[in-house]
Amino acid sequence: MEFVLYEQKDKIGIITINREKALNALNSQVLDELSEAFDAVDLNVVRCLILTGAGEKSFVAGADIGEMSTLTKAEGEAFGKKGNDLFRKIESFPIPVIAAVNGFALGGGCEISMSCDIRICSDNAMFGQPEVGLGITPGFGGTQRLARLVSPGMAKQLIYTARNIKADEAYRIGLVNAVYSAETDEAGNVTVSAKDALMAAAEKMAAGIAAQAPIAVRNCKKAINDGLQVNIDEAIVIEEKLFGDCFETEDQKAGMGNFLKKKDDPTKVKVVDFKNA
Ligand code: CAA
Repeated sequence: MEFVLYEQKDKIGIITINREKALNALNSQVLDELSEAFDAVDLNVVRCLILTGAGEKSFVAGADIGEMSTLTKAEGEAFGKKGNDLFRKIESFPIPVIAAVNGFALGGGCEISMSCDIRICSDNAMFGQPEVGLGITPGFGGTQRLARLVSPGMAKQLIYTARNIKADEAYRIGLVNAVYSAETDEAGNVTVSAKDALMAAAEKMAAGIAAQAPIAVRNCKKAINDGLQVNIDEAIVIEEKLFGDCFETEDQKAGMGNFLKKKDDPTKVKVVDFKNA
């Protein structure tokens, strides 16, 4: 692939959008390659994904403005659908996806991060939906997911004013879970860049997720996502079914067996090697 890199580290997969010269902007080719990259993930081995952008400056600076500039109404709608189909694939991907936002996350960049389960960022990150300044609406889910993730009033303010916000404000409004800065030595020299600190934190979080019972983690994702779309009575039933689905799995037996064993003999405390079965 020309614009997407994939690396697998044990049970973690890292997908990198690699179009640094255009600040990782999403053209049709990038969207197609991302879709292929998600399809190719080996779900028998990989238990958590990290999505990031190449370089230190930008996660994704939006959909490709050059490509969009000459679209007809019908082509604009089709381009929106192309992005939305991919972002729904990410949102409903069976395993968790962490967005490691390493700089600009504007327009389609903010939108792709919002289709991930969790967002963390470096302190140079900037989020926003600047589309109305370009004469369009957000088109890859921004009007829908931002209003669901932060309050509708805050989403409307950000979208109507096209104002970009820095990492600390994104953290304050709950758009990101954590912000990472460069580490320095006593003399003030940078020892770890903000991007490296971000990726180390993302990998640590992903490893923590990958160490849990995989069927249970997948079912949690599905329960939360599906439950948020329906009323509480239907949501509770969704949870009951996914809860029940975990029983009789090898991992449920191993996880509970480990707890019960260590009650008798604390020396038996050990990390369970969950089998995804
Ligand atoms: N599409 C296409 N190319 C882009 C791009 C985008 N969204 N964002 C940046 N680039 C390109 C620039 O054209 C430039 O290319 P050249 O070197 O060939 O000229 C290169 O990336 C570097 O960009 P800048 O020189 O502009 O870098 P900067 O540091 O001065 O500014 C920036 C950075 C503030 C992010 C600025 O690039 C910018 O404002 N980009 C556009 C952001 C934007 O409006 N995104 C929303 C797009 S609309 C959308 O996403 C619709 C949707 O919902 C689906």
